[in-house]
Amino acid sequence: MVETIECVRIKNLQAYYGESHVLHGVDLHVNRGEVVTLLGRNGSGRTTTLRSLMGLMGRCTGTIQIQGKDVLGIPPHKIARMGVGYCPEERGIFASLSCEENLLLPPQIAEGGMSVAEIYRLFPNLQERANSPGTKLSGGEQQMLAIARILRTGARVLLLDEISEGLAPVIVQTLDRAIRALKKQGYTIILVEQNFRFAAPLADRFYIMEHGRVVEGFEARELESKMNMLHEFLGV
Ligand SMILES: Nc1ncnc2c1ncn2[C@@H]1O[C@H](COP(=O)(O)OP(=O)(O)O)[C@@H](O)[C@H]1O
Ligand SMILES: [Mg+2]
Repeated sequence: MVETIECVRIKNLQAYYGESHVLHGVDLHVNRGEVVTLLGRNGSGRTTTLRSLMGLMGRCTGTIQIQGKDVLGIPPHKIARMGVGYCPEERGIFASLSCEENLLLPPQIAEGGMSVAEIYRLFPNLQERANSPGTKLSGGEQQMLAIARILRTGARVLLLDEISEGLAPVIVQTLDRAIRALKKQGYTIILVEQNFRFAAPLADRFYIMEHGRVVEGFEARELESKMNMLHEFLGV
């Protein structure tokens, strides 16, 4: 049962890269324990929304609240300390470190982070590859490692950007199982995805973004009735 305690609230978020105005009033919220998917075409503003939430956008205005606290303008390390973990599209695995060294790198920021043993239960591939250098890991292993790394820190709100991108179906299945396991454990997850088939069965709610705005929001049970609209916006 998902409790309705608000975890993230974004109101009228505007964000800029230099002179370029890319978010034009994003509104969304995520309740504790929910998996919420942000869908949209390339360039619709999903990554920028995650970056804003994480405190990584130089210039943005509006309101961002985490557990009811205003966080706009707060630096990334403080957002992390509030229990938010960001898994960026580019993964950021250190090539010169082993798989396990990469895993152990980020500091623990909160109680209740997963132990290495728990992480290896969730992603057995990583245990097999514990001593392999970052460069030798496959794309799928790097992606699992990028997710695993934030689980160790104690983050309970996970911002996952295009985690299924470019991965073989068998790896996407592993990620699907991992997300389901995390949801069962009460994690709150924002899933930015292009891959509708991966995201759709996982999500409690959906937001559709276009041109730096949320143009639609609906619940999983409404999905069937939204397929025409999704087809129009995403070509799915
Ligand atoms: N570093 C950047 N500098 C300038 N413009 C950017 C940068 N990153 C993204 N943009 C622009 O911001 C808009 C939103 O991009 P983004 O949030 O990455 O979209 P999405 O993740 O949905 O594909 C796009 O028009 C993109 O071209
Ligand atoms: Mg993106």
